[in-house]
Amino acid sequence: MKATIYLSLFLIGLQFHYYHFTGPHVVQGSYPNTQQRQSTLDQECNTEDNFWHKIIPYNADFAFRLYKEMSSTIEDKNILFSPISISSALAMLSLGAKSETQSQIYEGLAFNLSEIEQNEIHKGFCQLMYRHTDTTHVKTGSALFLDKTLEVLPTFLEDIRNLYHAEDFSIDFLNTRGAKQHINDYIENKTNGAIINAVKYLSKNTRMLLVNYILYKGEWERRFLPDLTLEEDFFAYGNTTVKLNMMLNTASYKFVRDEELFCSVVEVPFSDVAVALFILPEQGKLKDLESSLVKEDLDKWRTSFQYKDLKLSIPKFSAYPSYDVKRFLQRLGMRNAFNQHADLSGI
Ligand SMILES: *[C@@H]1O[C@H](CO)[C@@H](O)[C@H](O)[C@H]1NC(C)=O
Ligand SMILES: *[C@@H]1O[C@H](CO)[C@@H](O)[C@H](O)[C@H]1NC(C)=O
Ligand SMILES: *[C@@H]1O[C@H](CO)[C@@H](O)[C@H](O)[C@H]1NC(C)=O
Repeated sequence: MKATIYLSLFLIGLQFHYYHFTGPHVVQGSYPNTQQRQSTLDQECNTEDNFWHKIIPYNADFAFRLYKEMSSTIEDKNILFSPISISSALAMLSLGAKSETQSQIYEGLAFNLSEIEQNEIHKGFCQLMYRHTDTTHVKTGSALFLDKTLEVLPTFLEDIRNLYHAEDFSIDFLNTRGAKQHINDYIENKTNGAIINAVKYLSKNTRMLLVNYILYKGEWERRFLPDLTLEEDFFAYGNTTVKLNMMLNTASYKFVRDEELFCSVVEVPFSDVAVALFILPEQGKLKDLESSLVKEDLDKWRTSFQYKDLKLSIPKFSAYPSYDVKRFLQRLGMRNAFNQHADLSGI
């Protein structure tokens, strides 16, 4: 049986620059919540408790909050990011943060510390990372690059090694070129060459860099045949129509119409456990939809999906976005981490 809960791997909003497409497209890994897979978790997170299960709703919340911030700022551009990648990197940072800096990170990640304890959060990420890396299609990991002159508290290193399986390296950040090369080579190697030149710029003042990478390479369960990919009309902002290459499939898909949000949702499965949710707003409703999506909508759709024979046409696309997410994270409440009040004394 497929999936009962959703883990947001990627969130994509396609607008094709000036062109209005169909709202967010959420690629999600999903895991059966009834039986726990035999795991190889180390002691830190190898318990009967499903911590990963507990953090997923918060991650979904964070995913939509961040999407909302980005879509309200980045007008008319495609948006693509991995919520789980960003949140796990920040959760790792929170292990070294103290006082308000730390609480702002948790809150910014949508965690409510009166509902979930800090150690549950980190054990949750620990379990998720194991689950990710033992599926063949998802590759994810974390690393910490430190300047060789820096000394770091051993407890911080132990925590990130044990809970986040992070590797750490002591390098020379004064040699900016060399440091960048080292980091980019590391990421390229870890992702089998799929992510190249991840770090494009390093400031002279950088002394520490925290990396999280994620790679997903799935195959659609029902393939889109290349022969059927045709240039078709695509309804863009306003009344503009553009021609785009559209992949076509005619099959039975899980489908639901959401009368409150003026959209339709189609679940398109990959051949593994992952699914893509296409959230398709009615004409003129994209902005409203983007500003009102919440994690509860996922549950609502999931419980009301029905199979429907569809002629599904989706654009074939590539996107190479690059963001400075700082301002979005600040707007989500993580202020101190990025200003002179930062308390990272746990590092
Ligand atoms: C946090 O959780 C508590 C207990 O469930 C709840 O009363 C409170 O409103 C929550 N805070 C936020 C900001 O959601
Ligand atoms: C990639 O990593 C493997 C395993 O650590 C290593 O043997 C190999 O030399 C590395 N390749 C590059 C190009 O760094
Ligand atoms: C789109 O076309 C319709 C009908 O021709 C018109 O009423 C509407 O104002 C147009 N909308 C925009 C944004 O141009």
